[in-house]
Amino acid sequence: MKLLVTGGAGYVGSVVTRLLLDAGHQVVVLDDLSRNDSAQVPAGADFVQARVHDAGRVLTREAGFDAVFHFAGLIAAGESMAHPEWHWDNNTTGSLALLDAMRAAGVPRIIFSSTAATYGDPSELPLTETAITKPVNTYGATKLAVDMAITSEAHAHELAAISLRYFNVAGALIHPDGTMLGERHDPETHLIPIALEVAAGKREKLQLFGDDYPTPDGTCVRDYIHVADLAQAHLLALGALTKSEHRIYNLGNGTGFSNRQVVDAVREVTGHAIPVEIAPRRPGDPASLYASSEKARRELSWVPARPQLRDIVSDAWEFYRHG
Ligand SMILES: NC(=O)c1ccc[n+]([C@@H]2O[C@H](COP(=O)([O-])OP(=O)(O)OC[C@H]3O[C@@H](n4cnc5c(N)ncnc54)[C@H](O)[C@@H]3O)[C@@H](O)[C@H]2O)c1
Repeated sequence: MKLLVTGGAGYVGSVVTRLLLDAGHQVVVLDDLSRNDSAQVPAGADFVQARVHDAGRVLTREAGFDAVFHFAGLIAAGESMAHPEWHWDNNTTGSLALLDAMRAAGVPRIIFSSTAATYGDPSELPLTETAITKPVNTYGATKLAVDMAITSEAHAHELAAISLRYFNVAGALIHPDGTMLGERHDPETHLIPIALEVAAGKREKLQLFGDDYPTPDGTCVRDYIHVADLAQAHLLALGALTKSEHRIYNLGNGTGFSNRQVVDAVREVTGHAIPVEIAPRRPGDPASLYASSEKARRELSWVPARPQLRDIVSDAWEFYRHG
């Protein structure tokens, strides 16, 4: 297929692009490089530097795209509270422009990167796709708005659509040919790469926000999913798209890991002491958040190959040192 991957210079988009190329697809990456100084567009993909708002420049009828994978967007929840206008513009206005361009060019399929943040405080655990969606930050709200717009588009204009709601993506693609693709966010807000920065001596210590939550060791429990497993689900989703339907799938491990368990795994993998400082709880942080991915397993036949925390951390460390 001929595919457009927005945000394909970023973490998840680049890994999916690589697997799509491996599967024999033709891929054009569209990314404005706004958030990725260390852009990683896999060799073999064509690259267009543009905002997703201007996707119509690439998505023409003549170009004949079969599907769009839409990763482009801003991802930091804290930033979305300080600068909500950036997130509404990038994530929501940009996505609406993309849908307009797809409609005009007759592109019939989309796979969208949605997020666990659409649910807000969990109304049930593990979280299924029918849980209440009540985002507690602007980031989650901008993504939920796009999910809703995609549902309308599917029903009104026969779009075939799947939203994949990721939980915490981690790890790196260590390709058999030696290529490594991983996580380099700036500023980094994700626990595993921050802990690796401590292991590498780039940070003095790791802050854990709260150790008095009602969890087995008092620290927050989150769901970590290996980026290569997550990427594989996108390829399966491509084969499951159905005209006029918008399906939603949660992608997580199904098991939560506590912040302390993550730190222990980083200590074990890196062999470095990770000094930890307990800081006050952050407002809006739920004690536990983890997914049920039963629907993806059942309907997409998705089976994560590297669900162990140790493997996730070890691949992230490999990328950190040599990627
Ligand atoms: N990383 C996670 O844990 C996680 C969890 C849930 C959902 N997601 C979603 O997955 C997607 C990818 O996340 P990521 O971690 O790879 O982020 P990333 O920041 O590494 O990649 C995003 C890419 O999008 C580009 N971009 C941003 N705004 C753009 C715009 N308006 N036009 C064109 N390009 C633009 C950036 O330059 C960057 O290369 C995001 O939509 C995010 O909301 C990520």
